[in-house]
Amino acid sequence: MTACIVGWSHSKFGKLDGETSESLIVKAASEAMAHAGIEPKDVDVIYVGNMNGGFVRQEFHSSLALQAHPDLRFKPSTRVENACATGSAAIHMGLNALAAKKARFVLVVGVEKMTELNSAQAGEVLIKASYVAEEANIEAGFAGIFGKITSAYFQRYGDKSDALAKIAVKAHRNGAKNPYAHFQKEFAYDFCRTPSDKNPFVAGPLKRTDCSPVTDGAAAVILADVGTALGMKQAIAFRAAEQVNDFLPMSRRDIVKFEGPQRAWQQALKAAHLDLLDLSFVESHDCFTSAELIEYEAMGLTAPGEGERAIHEGWVERDGKLPVNVSGGLKAKGHPVGATGVSMHVMSAMQLAGTAPEGLQLPKARLAGVFNMGGAAVANYVSILEPLR
Ligand code: COA
Repeated sequence: MTACIVGWSHSKFGKLDGETSESLIVKAASEAMAHAGIEPKDVDVIYVGNMNGGFVRQEFHSSLALQAHPDLRFKPSTRVENACATGSAAIHMGLNALAAKKARFVLVVGVEKMTELNSAQAGEVLIKASYVAEEANIEAGFAGIFGKITSAYFQRYGDKSDALAKIAVKAHRNGAKNPYAHFQKEFAYDFCRTPSDKNPFVAGPLKRTDCSPVTDGAAAVILADVGTALGMKQAIAFRAAEQVNDFLPMSRRDIVKFEGPQRAWQQALKAAHLDLLDLSFVESHDCFTSAELIEYEAMGLTAPGEGERAIHEGWVERDGKLPVNVSGGLKAKGHPVGATGVSMHVMSAMQLAGTAPEGLQLPKARLAGVFNMGGAAVANYVSILEPLR
C-alpha cells in the first residue's frame, strides 16, 4: 500500500449544455480539494486526464486546472492521455509522483466535453483510438471496432444477444439509482433485446442499447501518501494498481480473448494477495455490453466463452456474488472518455467510504476492483481499493 484517495468529486454526467471543459475542470478540482479538506496551496502536482482529439477546439488543458484558485499558479500540471483509459492513466501518474516522493498531495482531474459534436462526428474522433493504418475505415466509428469483436465472439461461441440485452438492463437498472448518471431510467429487456426504430443496429450485432453514450463530465481525486492519509477525513488505499499494454493492431492479437485485461487482473490480484471473489464489487469498462461480457472471462469470473453465465445466473447483479457496475457503468452512467477512469475510482471510493448516494450504496463494501481500458483491450488498468481504516 503506497497511496490513498483522500478526497473526490464527481459532476453530473450527461449532455451538459452551458458547461465547457474549463468549467468542468474548475468545479471538479475545487470540490475535490474541499472534500479532502486541503487548501489549493497544499497541492504539489496536478494531472489532467483529457483525450480530446477534436471534441473541443481547446487542446491544451493542463493549466486550466489552475483556474480553480490563484494559489495553484506555478504548480506543475500535465495533461495525460491514454484513450478511454485516460482517467486511470492520470491517476497512475499521480501514484508515481507520490512513490517518487515528489508530492504529498496530488490533484487528478479527468474531463471530457463530447457533445459539442454529434454522434457521427464523435465516432470520427473516437476511431483515432484504433490502429488507424488498418482499422480506421471500419463503419460506425469505435462502435464498429466492437461490432467486429462481438461478431467474432458470436462466431466462436454462438449468438449471445440475450446476455448482452441482460447486461444493458442491469446497467440501466443500476444507473436509475445513480444521481450522477447520464441515463437515470430503467430499460425493459424486450426493448434492449429487439431491434426497433428506437433501438436500431449500430455496428454488427450491437444495437444502440449495447453502446455507451456520448457524454460530458468530469471527476477528480486528491491522492496522498499513506502517512499523510492517516490524518485525513477519509482515506481509500490502493492495495494494487497495475497497467498492462498490448499491441495496438487487432491483427496481432486474438481479439476475442482480451489477454491484456486478463494479465492486468492477474497482476493486480497477485499484488493484492487476493482472489477475485474476495472483492465486494467491480467497476468494469463496459463501453459496449459485449466488452463487459468478455471482461467477465478476462477477470477470471468464468471460463472463456462462458461469460454469459455470470449475467444469466445473477452473479453480477448488485445482490450477486460479485456485483459489476453497480454505478450503472459506462453504459448508463455515461462515458466522457477522459473522465471515465477517475469516475470509476470515485464511485468505488464512495462505496468503500459508505457515502454512495441512497439506493446505490452496497451494504458490505470492503474491497473494490476497478478495470479501465483504452482502445480495444490495448491500455489496461486494474486498481484494487480498500479503506485505510
Ligand atoms: N444507449 C441508450 N440510448 C441512447 C444511447 C445509448 N448509448 N445513445 C443515445 N440514446 C438515446 C438518446 O437519449 C435519444 O433518446 P430520445 O429519443 O428518447 O431522446 C435517442 O437514443 C437518440 O439519440 P442520438 O444521440 O440521436 O442517437 P445516435 O444514434 O446519434 O447515437 C450511438 C447513439 C450509440 C451511436 C452513440 O451513443 C455512440 O456513438 N456511442 C458510442 C460512443 C463510443 O464509441 N464511445 C467510446 C467507446 S470505447
